Amino acid sequence: MIKAQVKKIFAQEFGSSPRLFAAPGRINLIGEHTDYNNGFVLPASIDKRIYLAIAPNQTEGFNIVSTDFNERVSFTANHNTQSLPHWARYPFGVIKEMQKLGCTINGFNAVFGGDIPAGAGLSSSAALESAFAIALNELNALNLDKFTLAKIGQSAEHNYVGVRCGIMDQFASIFGKDEQVVLLDCQTLEHRHFPLHLNGHKLILTDTQVKHSLASSEYNKRRAECEEGVRIAATNEVGMKSLRDATIKQIEPYKAMMGEQVYMRCEYVIEENERVLATCKALSNDNLEAVGALMYQSHQGLQHKYQVSCAELDCLVDAAKSAQGVLGSRMMGGGFGGCTISLVKESAVDAFKKSLTDAFGQQFNRQPIFYSVTIGNGAGEVTE
Ligand code: GLA
Repeated sequence: MIKAQVKKIFAQEFGSSPRLFAAPGRINLIGEHTDYNNGFVLPASIDKRIYLAIAPNQTEGFNIVSTDFNERVSFTANHNTQSLPHWARYPFGVIKEMQKLGCTINGFNAVFGGDIPAGAGLSSSAALESAFAIALNELNALNLDKFTLAKIGQSAEHNYVGVRCGIMDQFASIFGKDEQVVLLDCQTLEHRHFPLHLNGHKLILTDTQVKHSLASSEYNKRRAECEEGVRIAATNEVGMKSLRDATIKQIEPYKAMMGEQVYMRCEYVIEENERVLATCKALSNDNLEAVGALMYQSHQGLQHKYQVSCAELDCLVDAAKSAQGVLGSRMMGGGFGGCTISLVKESAVDAFKKSLTDAFGQQFNRQPIFYSVTIGNGAGEVTE
């Protein structure tokens, strides 16, 4: 449907027949705010995607239409970022980052659109970066490997959007595999795909529809706080380069020097890394109860120690705790809004939705939105 729409608009706007690429959004089972601390994450790519129709135009210019924003922009690589609409900074950033690596990016016409809800914490921006990274790699015969493409997306976000994000979202969008979660070690970039046997359970996303305006500034602040914690502890702890190298025992003596807040951030990250590994073990043993318990603990940490939750997310997690047949629930992604992810018995899904709708309605006088996601393949060219 979206695929056909994107192709149709391409034909209307540009005429020639394009190549078609797709890149998915992601969920993250557990491991939040650990990626930029060189820790572990456990994401998966989902069946919601951005489709990109693209063809060379034999000029030096880039013409891009967003069907979702109903907007067309034209620019060259010398354009000033600030004058571009927000969405266009992602492809612009990808082009610039590729050029920084010495790649020649020829002019193109492109149309994109998708069904990943924006601002819901499902990484629609990483999907957009990944779609362009994969497509430009092919169109310009660059032969860049998949990790380089993921890093190009991440750098585009750092340098042209202003969010100092980790690698998780771009990685998941590019490396995702059908019905599998991926354990990524953000220090070594080693990764392992795990089949996700849900055995009669479903992963349900519940969207608060809160798009917090502070999200990117608070995100960068958390990252700086973690770096500050490491800087303080590393003065005596030889070899400590990130929180990945740290244990609670090692950072405890520096609590007073760090101050309560920085200490709590570091403590959360170290504990969350342990939870990711514990989740993998529980998955290997088909112990979904243990996975669910770890999800609840993750939320506790994000709410009280890392302080990136919000009243709407907390309300949904509390309501999940009191509902029947729910194994675990937590906020997902950067925080301050977006979705929770819950592990729910299939037979209890309807009752779960009703409990959350009631609790949310009582407190906020509106309804949350539910998405039942399945895990799909990572980014690539669409040939059918
Ligand atoms: C956002 C960032 C990711 C990651 C998560 C939190 O999605 O883009 O790199 O840090 O927040 O886990």
